[in-house]
Amino acid sequence: MRGMLSPSLMCADALNLQSELEALDRLGVDYIHLDFMDNKFVPNITLDAELIRAVKRVLVNMKRDIHIMAIEPEQYFDRMEIGQGDIVSVHFEACGGRLHEVIADIRQRGASPFVAISPDTEPEVLADYLDEIDGVLVMTVYPGFAGRPIVEGSFDKIRAVRALLDSRREGMLLEVDGHVSWDLCQTMRECGGDLFVAGSSSLYQRGLDLAEAVERMSELIA
Ligand code: DX5
Ligand code: ZN
Repeated sequence: MRGMLSPSLMCADALNLQSELEALDRLGVDYIHLDFMDNKFVPNITLDAELIRAVKRVLVNMKRDIHIMAIEPEQYFDRMEIGQGDIVSVHFEACGGRLHEVIADIRQRGASPFVAISPDTEPEVLADYLDEIDGVLVMTVYPGFAGRPIVEGSFDKIRAVRALLDSRREGMLLEVDGHVSWDLCQTMRECGGDLFVAGSSSLYQRGLDLAEAVERMSELIA
């Protein structure tokens, strides 16, 4: 499976989001990464649920890759109009004993459920859910902010999750989120990543031409 790009909208120009989305869509980018934060699970607020819903209206080619960093994430699914084609990542650490139900809710809406794990969560916790999900989002930074440094041991984490997914079935996706930089993205790909969140560490670095950056990143993770 070829490597895929998921630019992080929270890192784009906040005063020109529609034109940023349309430019990425025209460039044939696979996914747009939409971070939702509740200021409880993580101490920050970024894109709100209504904006995440409204994004649907301008997308022609890209699909939504929604990353919900919130307690009880299911409370936001209606407002976001979660549906066909969406990837929805919910955090293992935020769902308590309800993760099976939350995953079923996402599936029932026609979307693709992923479980996200933060840097301090071991991959083994995923074992009970692998038959119900389509992929795993591995956080390689502590969630909540763009521009954070990669966490020590992230490459081993990606390798361990890759081995876990491949031991269960073919075709499960491994998404890498956090400090996916120009110099580290190829190693992340070699360790087993499939879908890469491109934020302030790559596409959205100051002064880059978006089309050139997308082309260069796509080649690096191919
Ligand atoms: C952080 C978000 C990431 C972030 C990545 O909690 O989940 O998607 O936007 O941005 P960089 O590339 O700056 O780590
Ligand atoms: Zn994210």
